Amino acid sequence: MKALVAPSILSADFARLAEEAAAVDNADWLHVDVMDNHFVPNLTLGPLVVESLRKATALPLDCHLMIDDPDRWAPPYAELGAHNVTFHVEAAADPVRTARAIRSAGALAGLAIKPGTPLEPYLEILREFDTLLVMTVEPGFGGQAFIPEVLPKVREARRRVESGHLRLYVEVDGGISADTIGQAAAAGADVFVAGSSVYSADDPAAAVDRLRDRATRAY
Ligand code: DX5
Ligand code: ZN
Repeated sequence: MKALVAPSILSADFARLAEEAAAVDNADWLHVDVMDNHFVPNLTLGPLVVESLRKATALPLDCHLMIDDPDRWAPPYAELGAHNVTFHVEAAADPVRTARAIRSAGALAGLAIKPGTPLEPYLEILREFDTLLVMTVEPGFGGQAFIPEVLPKVREARRRVESGHLRLYVEVDGGISADTIGQAAAAGADVFVAGSSVYSADDPAAAVDRLRDRATRAY
């Protein structure tokens, strides 16, 4: 298994996003948290900023939409050139139709589940997706503590991939640091979002390499 590290620009300086992206040009994906102040209490950025970022970095953009009505608002992010567009199942009316729209616009489609949302009811529809994002904190803010109790969902998803029932990236997001990434990797995650642990480091690029290395050693 190959570990992919996706620094989250939520912890970057929003006035210097191009430079902050360049500071982690050794990353695999760049994680872009879109928050609408409705689905979560925080507000970040939207399609205009994603469009500009797309031109400012060669890193594949991993857009994590924490917004209401993703059925309507998610496909445009794929049209703007995002590599992966993940939306929350808790907010979606028709997740399969939305995943198909994202894929036909040329991006990978991702389904996100909050810590309290079970995986079981969605195992069937995951065939329509490329990424499962298991939230390891409550969505909305960076810098929260990792919730290890969600790891059984990561294990279950990995088991379904290993047995050939699903083809998915299994992504974890929230509280990922050098101390916690090993547990998530051992449970079967292969994409690791890290905000504060990367951007609060003196050398963000070195922090990315260290995380990837820890995950790889945990496999
Ligand atoms: C939280 C966001 C995360 C956030 C993670 O709602 O989805 O992507 O940036 O931040 P850390 O790594 O600081 O927990
Ligand atoms: Zn995120």
